[in-house]
Amino acid sequence: MSTVMKEVPGEPTPLSTSDGLERSPLPVPYGWFWVSYSEDLKPGEHRNIECFGQEWVLFRAETGEAGVVDPYCPHLGAHLGHGGKVVGTSLRCPFHHWAYNTKGFCTSIPYAKVMPPITKRQPILKALPITENNGIVWAWYHPKGVAPLWEVPLVPELNDANYITPQRGEWPVNTFIQELGENGVDFAHLKFLHHSPVIPTGECRAEGYKWHVNMANGYIIIEQFGPGLQIVRFTKGTVVTTMVSYPQPIHKCRTVMRMGFTHRKYAAGTPEATLAANMLQEQVGQGVDAEAGFESVDMIVWNNKRYREQPLLCDGDGEILKWRRYFSQFYVS
Ligand code: FES
Ligand SMILES: [Fe+2]
Repeated sequence: MSTVMKEVPGEPTPLSTSDGLERSPLPVPYGWFWVSYSEDLKPGEHRNIECFGQEWVLFRAETGEAGVVDPYCPHLGAHLGHGGKVVGTSLRCPFHHWAYNTKGFCTSIPYAKVMPPITKRQPILKALPITENNGIVWAWYHPKGVAPLWEVPLVPELNDANYITPQRGEWPVNTFIQELGENGVDFAHLKFLHHSPVIPTGECRAEGYKWHVNMANGYIIIEQFGPGLQIVRFTKGTVVTTMVSYPQPIHKCRTVMRMGFTHRKYAAGTPEATLAANMLQEQVGQGVDAEAGFESVDMIVWNNKRYREQPLLCDGDGEILKWRRYFSQFYVS
């Protein structure tokens, strides 16, 4: 499986602009977010990860369930990801061997004659709700701990043996997810930043936590399911290629963009096979094209821009405010 991974070289960009204002005043949004590819988290493994503005320990129980928990043991505060071990259903703290399952319940205190009563009633370690599908481990993040408000849909192309194994890419960027999605409705920049011959037209529609875009008369159809999952389908004749995007907020001003690109398997040598391969290369290449790809041009803008809460817009600017209204539902302060 090929993975493209590039970061714009240079110093990490600061969180404030030169006049001391925050580049991103908005908090991390709530939703389901990628925390690992399923195949990269084997039973018995654990690792420390940073996302949603803090550190977490990601682990997979020997019985198969994945968990994302706060790193610090509720007992005396040891870090579960430094010297801890997965044992059975639980992650065991190195200090006194208290153990916690993927829901945050304490499952064992090996030297206690009586378990503290609270351990029977409720989780004592903060644990994020987890679901696993499409080959991805997803964590539900909500700053107030509200339970999941929707489910991660199955992406047909990622669950069908008639599709090629997705080509994956990964791009860290110093901005927040709302800005990444705003790119998709900022039709004017496609001409001026990406050299598109014309400014494309498109229609956008919000539907609860979902967002739909139809661009260039059906050539590009975007389906978004909250901040952490976007499916983009490109159609030419009978050939459709699919880009599945699952950005992960590291903190309020840093995001790792991750994507998988796939299409139906076509018999070698057919015109469909050639067209699909070319379309896919074009989309993967958007990331690494030195002239017009998002790595070299969008990222330079994203890494250094400030968020304008009340931008001055003109009639050719596309549906930027509609997108922001849709996205604002995912912020809780
Ligand atoms: S600090 Fe974790 S078991 Fe004591
Ligand atoms: Fe762009």
